[in-house]
Amino acid sequence: MKLVSIIGARPQIIKAAALSRSIKNSNHKIEDFIVHTGQHYDHNMSQVFIEELGIEPPQINLNVGSMSHAKQTSAILSGVEEVLLSEKPDWLVIYGDTNSTLAAAIAASKIHVPIVHIEAGLRSYNKSMPEEINRIVADHLSTLLFAPTKTGVDNLQKEGFNIDFEGPFNVDHPGVFNCGDLMYDNSLYFSELAASKTNILDDLNLSQNAFILATIHRDSNTDHPEKLNNLFYSLCQVAKESGMKVILPLHPRTKKMIELHLKPEWKKEIESAEHIKVIPPASFLEMIMLEKNAAIILTDSGGVQKEAFFFEKPCVILRPETEWVELVKLGAAIIADTNPEKIIDAFRFLMHKKDIKYEKVYGDGKAADHMLNTMLIHKSK
Ligand code: UD1
Repeated sequence: MKLVSIIGARPQIIKAAALSRSIKNSNHKIEDFIVHTGQHYDHNMSQVFIEELGIEPPQINLNVGSMSHAKQTSAILSGVEEVLLSEKPDWLVIYGDTNSTLAAAIAASKIHVPIVHIEAGLRSYNKSMPEEINRIVADHLSTLLFAPTKTGVDNLQKEGFNIDFEGPFNVDHPGVFNCGDLMYDNSLYFSELAASKTNILDDLNLSQNAFILATIHRDSNTDHPEKLNNLFYSLCQVAKESGMKVILPLHPRTKKMIELHLKPEWKKEIESAEHIKVIPPASFLEMIMLEKNAAIILTDSGGVQKEAFFFEKPCVILRPETEWVELVKLGAAIIADTNPEKIIDAFRFLMHKKDIKYEKVYGDGKAADHMLNTMLIHKSK
């Protein structure tokens, strides 16, 4: 079986690591031609993950870099088309909801290369998010849809997908499967390794359950000065109130927006590092160590919300909604958006809650194996 897999943004490189492991361990002959779109290009947003997680280096990098959504998407679209025409894979594999996902899906569907969408069926029901548009289009152009949760399957059914179809599958007759979440596979696999391979806790002088971990990168938060300032106010308040420092690995987009829009009082807070300690983007293993040892996590990232859950940490969601609704249903996460009052209340509530249920709702830790087997069974040639 021959695959062309598309990676581009940080979380896709991490997700690809799980499939890479499964391919290496498979008894079948599987070739995976990896295309890096270059959507993320800083060393600590891209290369560091390729080296640390042991995925095969990409065969090609389209080096698209940062541009407007339309320009970024169109540059990837034509680059991926060329690769697909020359490589002629059995499947195009796309992950998640980025512009790289969307562009690759359009390129493949126009030249009839069947698509496997990993992380299908997730919905925020908020079409002002670029990611929501990307995932809806990607799902509707795919032949195999791998939902990470039952909610994902239910969402697809609501959109008209017939989940009882049996193969052979094609884009008009797609197959929907709940294989579990690749990121759960990764958290289990890399959790052990993280402790022996990183020194981040010592380097930052952090002890277990005695700090707050936060991440902010969504354009809906970073590109709105009022929201950005509200978030920094809230982070500072919870740090002061709890006596715990906030550790904030900074996405490059957030770094730029802080320079442009953050009020001088919060810039001073960052400089003093008394309550909020800003650090460069963490590697995946470093991030796992931070997540495993934090007392609580505040984030607008989908991936970090879930990793909080995998490591049994409560989470305050800094967005108005989430695709990972199980986290909220189980009481492990609270949606607080960028409202300081809600953030501080959610923080207080979760810090004192002792009976959170961290049920196994993200599969059996072998999602990548299930996906690979399904691709093998259903390839057309
Ligand atoms: C993208 C994805 C988002 C995913 C996130 C993970 C889309 C629409 N969004 O958001 O779903 O959760 O990646 O991080 O595809 N930049 C750098 N260096 C880099 C990468 C980005 O400086 O290596 C800066 C650039 O100024 C760029 C900005 O960050 O304009 C945003 O990058 P972009 O790839 O457009 O989206 P992300 O915010 O990273």
